[in-house]
Amino acid sequence: MSSFDVAVIGAGAAGMMCAAVAGQRGLRVVLIDHASRLAEKIRISGGGRCNFTNRDAGPAAFLSANPAFCRSALARYTPQDFLRLLAKHRIGWHEKHRGQLFCDDSSEAIIEMLRRECEAGGVAWRMPCAVARVRCEGEAGFVLDTDHGPVRAARVVLATGGMAVPQIGATDFALRVARELGMKIIEPRPALVPLTFDAENWRAYAALAGVAQEVDIATGKGKMAGRFREDLLFTHRGLSGPAVLQISSYWQPGEPIRVDLAAGQDLADALLRAKPGSRQQIDTVLAGLMPRRLAEQWLADAGLAGKRLADLPDKALRGLGLALNEWQLVPSGTAGYKKAEVMRGGIDTRELNQQDMQARRVPGLYAIGEAVDVTGWLGGYNFQWAWASAMACALGL
Ligand code: FDA
Repeated sequence: MSSFDVAVIGAGAAGMMCAAVAGQRGLRVVLIDHASRLAEKIRISGGGRCNFTNRDAGPAAFLSANPAFCRSALARYTPQDFLRLLAKHRIGWHEKHRGQLFCDDSSEAIIEMLRRECEAGGVAWRMPCAVARVRCEGEAGFVLDTDHGPVRAARVVLATGGMAVPQIGATDFALRVARELGMKIIEPRPALVPLTFDAENWRAYAALAGVAQEVDIATGKGKMAGRFREDLLFTHRGLSGPAVLQISSYWQPGEPIRVDLAAGQDLADALLRAKPGSRQQIDTVLAGLMPRRLAEQWLADAGLAGKRLADLPDKALRGLGLALNEWQLVPSGTAGYKKAEVMRGGIDTRELNQQDMQARRVPGLYAIGEAVDVTGWLGGYNFQWAWASAMACALGL
């Protein structure tokens, strides 16, 4: 049976980073992944250019049942640290809006960089290789039952990510192993995902598919309240676009989302100010304040299409403005893991030591990356968590 100091299961963002650093610290490391192509999620991320971090990746941009947990790892490995690694490998990058950093060329550069870092650490690869079970043998460490025979390791790192996009090999492996070993799980759900509506309720809006608009969007109360100003996109089944992906991470089934379709502009006030002496139709005025298709559809539904602004009572204009500024709707669900960018929930962070990600109940077992209940906003935050949690773990192994 082959034997190692550390077995890292999952050769994605967190797993490769952790294996590389642990190997470079002199540990004998094996990195195991069941996929036939390396790091598929990095490859497809950021539209093929990998939004690998965000300049403002502070703890406030992460959701967790235990929000303080991510603080220490994020403070010890920052976006600047990752940029230093890119500089070492001469990888060009640029900033898009809101601190989002992307590769100039392709996300392949990040995969190649991590592969080379693993090589520098003398990491042994088992890939494609499926792990059926992780057996904890107390003082003797762990035995992994793989389809290439058993592997013995003194320490095991679960880095198999979340369940988003099962079509490229995502699984609930980390959650299953954690559960079997008696650890608590925060209920996993698709996040950064489009929201859907019953076909019946959505019929009126389906014609707006393709319309995009900057909005203020909000949901929830107290600790689980989220609010963003981003673009929203109407689709045939519901709502998507960055605004909706962001708010989906905060949305609880049965709860409404609140959308200001004019992103902070008081529409009733704008319509009432435009009214005196106006010869224009309301359609023309409203289409100056939001996408024409959206304005026309909304007015048709409200029975106001084709009316002259000056002929409409103030009460009707106030009602119209309010309805557009405070559109409330209850999604019937999400587009699911097939369309989600991440999984929220995961291994309860109260089960882990925040210094090194080691399981409190199972010494020698570690969990990092998306498998852990730390979920970032859209915009490079999830990779920053993968790098930071991997680094905290690798330095503590
Ligand atoms: P990751 O998913 O990267 O790796 C897990 C690895 O474990 C995989 O290689 C998988 O094959 C392997 N595995 C799973 N089950 C296994 C098993 N049973 N046995 C062996 N191996 C197993 N984030 C961001 O910050 N910026 C971005 O631009 C994007 N863009 C983006 C686009 C799309 C379409 C998606 C789906 C996701 C993103 N993300 C993102 C999210 C980001 O990709 C994600 O959070 C990280 O890849 C998580 O890193 P991990 O290493 O935890 O898991």
